[in-house]
Amino acid sequence: MSAHLDLDESVPGVADDGVWLTCIECGERFAPFDAIRYTCDDCDGLLEVRYADLPTWDDFGGASTPESGPYGVWRYSDALPFESGVSLPEGGTPLHHVPRLEDETGVATLRVKHEGMNPTGSFKDRGMTVGVRVAQAVGVDRLACASTGNTSAALAAYGARAGLETLVLLPAGKVAEGKVAQASLHGARILEVDGNFDRCLDIVQDLAARGEVYLLNSLNPFRLEGQKTIGLEIMERFRADEGTYPDRIVLPVGNAGNTAALYKCFRELRRAGAIDADEVPKLTGVQAEGSAPMVEAIENGTDGIRRWEDVETRATAIRIGNPVNAPKALPGIRETGGTAVAVSDEAITDAQRALAAEGVGVEPASAASLAGLRKLRAEGRVDPDEDVVCLTTGHLLKDPQAAYEAGSDPEPVPADTDAVLDHLAE
Ligand code: F0G
Repeated sequence: MSAHLDLDESVPGVADDGVWLTCIECGERFAPFDAIRYTCDDCDGLLEVRYADLPTWDDFGGASTPESGPYGVWRYSDALPFESGVSLPEGGTPLHHVPRLEDETGVATLRVKHEGMNPTGSFKDRGMTVGVRVAQAVGVDRLACASTGNTSAALAAYGARAGLETLVLLPAGKVAEGKVAQASLHGARILEVDGNFDRCLDIVQDLAARGEVYLLNSLNPFRLEGQKTIGLEIMERFRADEGTYPDRIVLPVGNAGNTAALYKCFRELRRAGAIDADEVPKLTGVQAEGSAPMVEAIENGTDGIRRWEDVETRATAIRIGNPVNAPKALPGIRETGGTAVAVSDEAITDAQRALAAEGVGVEPASAASLAGLRKLRAEGRVDPDEDVVCLTTGHLLKDPQAAYEAGSDPEPVPADTDAVLDHLAE
């Protein structure tokens, strides 16, 4: 683990209201809002938001405004760089019981945290409410991201709400229909790039470096601050319902931003004394077989990842060959005793059907979490006595085509009751 991922900074060099940025590679510190930077000025390492004071459970529950509501991201404002932000509102998503899947997978407890229930239908809204607030603080007029779809939908909606221009770069022909429709209607300018997501991100980083746009991909450390509230909600709710914290959280991995955000959540809870070392859930990442550089790095025990130039999977949201947050996420998986696993597209579709059969409608990438848990149980790598949370990251309606293909076909019938009964009796 990088020496600087342990949050152990007793004397902040640069502080602004107790918040600053630290480079996870060289430890250099920066004031958070005096200039726009996404990586370290000195070594180009990833930056992380740090706080002089870290809250514990009793501190939460503030920021209950008519817009943000009693539950959701801003309930945890004591763990965030601002008190409130442009809110639609986001967070406060359900932690479903799934009794049949709990039986089938044979774990002690299985709950599904359905992030598809956010305002634009994915967990990206949590990052955007904070990211757009920071954009307002640093004073920019054009927001941009590269996206496999969900980030662009969230950015378009939050940018629109904030009255800011938004630009999204999408890999042509590889983004699910619902997501493009959202970005379009919320008024983003959509550029379809003749290349994959990783190329889109290269370009948007160049545009940001030239001062043309404010970058709101998960390379932006403030996005991950919003996303870490997924971890806070899971921990609080699970303990309230089950009397303990979950042993393991299983999640789909693309750019590995969410994995990094959850790990940061747990480190901050540890440092605040809110949880013990043995209460940190094992972070377990799942990728599609055709797009699995993080799994490769975990299996080979390497510090970095090898960029996959050719990636393919039906789970287009996680069709990513160069996860930029790997330096934050790999230590998260390793330090928590978790693992990473690759699953086939067929297993993803099966899991999507199984979740739908419990009433939980998710897009393919989201179903990777359950597919991963099933595989790890079959291989004996997850124990039967474990309490597990699977994270489902996006809503079924994001990718209507995938849903049609996984579901059953409509049956044409005449407009006549007897004919309908005859058809049903066939
Ligand atoms: N699940 C869904 C539905 C996603 O949209 C994404 C990422 C992930 C999982 C992976 O999360 O990148 O934090 O590891 N989607 C991004 C996008 C890349 O552009 O919408 P991650």
